[in-house]
Parts: sequence; structure tokens; C-alpha cells
Amino acid sequence: MIDADPGNRQEMASFLANYGVQVIAQLQNVEQLPADSWHVPTACRWWWSTLDPAPHDNLKKVAALVRQHPSVSFFVLVAGGRSDPVDGSDPLGVREFVQLPIDASKFSAGIERCAHVHGMGKKARIIHMVPTVGGCGSTSVACNIAASLARTSKAVLVDMDLVRGAVASSFDLRPRYTIADLMESAEKLDNQMLDNALAIHQNSKLAILARPDLPEDTQRVNGPGLVRLTNVLGRMFDYVVLDSLMSVDPLYASAIHTADLNVIVMQLNVPSAKNAERYIGALRRMGIESSKIRIVVNRFGEEGLGTSSPMK
Ligand SMILES: Nc1ncnc2c1ncn2[C@@H]1O[C@H](COP(=O)(O)OP(=O)(O)OP(=O)(O)O)[C@@H](O)[C@H]1O
Ligand SMILES: [Mg+2]
Repeated sequence: MIDADPGNRQEMASFLANYGVQVIAQLQNVEQLPADSWHVPTACRWWWSTLDPAPHDNLKKVAALVRQHPSVSFFVLVAGGRSDPVDGSDPLGVREFVQLPIDASKFSAGIERCAHVHGMGKKARIIHMVPTVGGCGSTSVACNIAASLARTSKAVLVDMDLVRGAVASSFDLRPRYTIADLMESAEKLDNQMLDNALAIHQNSKLAILARPDLPEDTQRVNGPGLVRLTNVLGRMFDYVVLDSLMSVDPLYASAIHTADLNVIVMQLNVPSAKNAERYIGALRRMGIESSKIRIVVNRFGEEGLGTSSPMK
């Protein structure tokens, strides 16, 4: 990544880490680039550069590199509000021009396009399981869905009920590392770290990421860390199942947005139905399409469940 300003470079590196992109070198200008850096197999699949402070000169330099390295995806950041040095077209083969300030959704779409080109695209379907009242069976449904998916595909189940979660114990596992341990290493979350943290349920081959052992460790789990984690898991697995909570806190809102399916688990009683309705309203207001929302009615038809009310 090339940017004349060290503050911008650091900010960009953290921003990219949120999308699972690891920056291997931050340089001040093109001239600082070591000649052999292009030969490292994993290096330089991506290239990030701002054109400041001399947009036209720098664009020429980048254009020369684009011609020399056709297999590298070049991202060029262009300050907004100024005449675009390339008029929005792509005469040079630069893969993406990104307007500053960055529009997060366009930017992540650009990253996904590039990841696909390099065979590193998100492939997982993300299923976000949400209970509407305590004990309605969302963890049971999440565990069963994840375990059945794992029999035919690569699936991981993540416990996002961070204090009370019971995913690992449902499978009789006591993992050494948990979701909280994957939050620290901001820019270094890689496949090997994940392999150490994921416990495998031998019968189903389901991978499991447990909630923290100590309740106070839940505070280490944060929004950017979770987005990063979901991005990396999304590239490793076919299915990512999140056993979650009914919440719209930033942590859970990011899960709602990244999910391909938000599955709401309810039982046929008034509190559960009311909460399901309230939550679906919130999802709609957050802009989630109906096609991404499903309702599971658990324990349907069981006699005596949820029909009595203590107020009667
Ligand atoms: N379809 C079902 N048939 C029989 N028992 C069930 C069914 N679904 C859930 N249970 C039982 O109900 C209890 C609560 O289920 P579970 O822990 O999955 O609910 P939850 O919604 O995740 O609850 P929590 O609010 O604690 O997260 C468990 O003992 C589980 O075994
Ligand atoms: Mg649960």
C-alpha cells in the first residue's frame, strides 16, 4: 500500500483488516518498492495507492506498474471533489478506482469483486439464528442445522450468545480458545490462528467457535473484530451459522447485515410472537429484504407448550 501520509496508511490498513485483507507493506512512494516484492507468491495480489500529492505523475507511475504486472489487482484511491484524473474510466487496467472519502458498501463490493478474481471470494452462506424468547429453542435449531450442513459441506457454528451461550457444551466440547481470542490480533487473523481456535465435533465434522469462558472476556468481542472474523470464515467455509441473540446493538447489527438469512426462532405463544413481530419490524427498518428473513416455529403442535399464562 502506497500513501504519502503515514496516518492515512495506518487508517487504511485497519480499514482493510476489517475486510480480511492483510497489508504486507506500507510505503511512502512507488520508488520505495523493493524490486523483488513482486516475486513473493502471496504478495501483491492487490495494490493500493492514493495519487496524492501529485495525481497525474503518480497515475503515470501506477499505469506503468499495471502494464508490467497484469495479474495484480490495482486499487487507486482518488480524492473526491476534485476533477478525476481518469474521468471515471479505466484506460489503464486499474481494477478499481475508489473515491475518497470511502463509501463502505461500494468499497466492500470492490473488494469482493477482486477476491473472486483471485479465487478468494466469499463463498459461505451466513445463517444468523435469533431467538425471540429465552428457551424457545434457537440454539437447538442452530446446532442441528449446522451439524446437518457439516455432513455434506464445510460448516462452522459460532456462539454469539457471549455470556450464556451453550454451543460448545451442546456438543460436549471444551475448546481451549474462544471467539474472544480471535479479536486481539487485529491485522493478523489468518487461517492458522482460526484452525487453532476452532474445535471440531468428530461425528459431524462441524467446526465450532465457542463463547468466552469468562463472562468478563465478552467485552473483548467487538464489531470490527466480528466483521473481520465473519469475512475470514466466509472464505474458509461453505456455511457460517451464528447462534445469536435478539439484539440490534452494533455487534449484532453487523451480523444482521452480513447474513444471507436471518432465521427467527419462535414458539406459538404471545410473548414470542410479539417479539418476532417487533424484531422483523426492526429488520425492515434496517433495510433487510424479506427474502433474507425466515421464521422457524419450534415445538409446533406440542401439547401444553406456551399456552398457559401466569397472569391468567
Ligand atoms: N423441538 C424441540 N423439542 C424438544 N425439546 C426442545 C426442542 N427445541 C428445544 N428444546 C429444548 O428446550 C430447551 C431450550 O432450548 P435452547 O437452549 O435451544 O433454546 P434457546 O432459544 O437457545 O434458549 P436461550 O434463551 O437459553 O438461548 C433445551 O432443553 C432444548 O433441549
Ligand atoms: Mg440459545
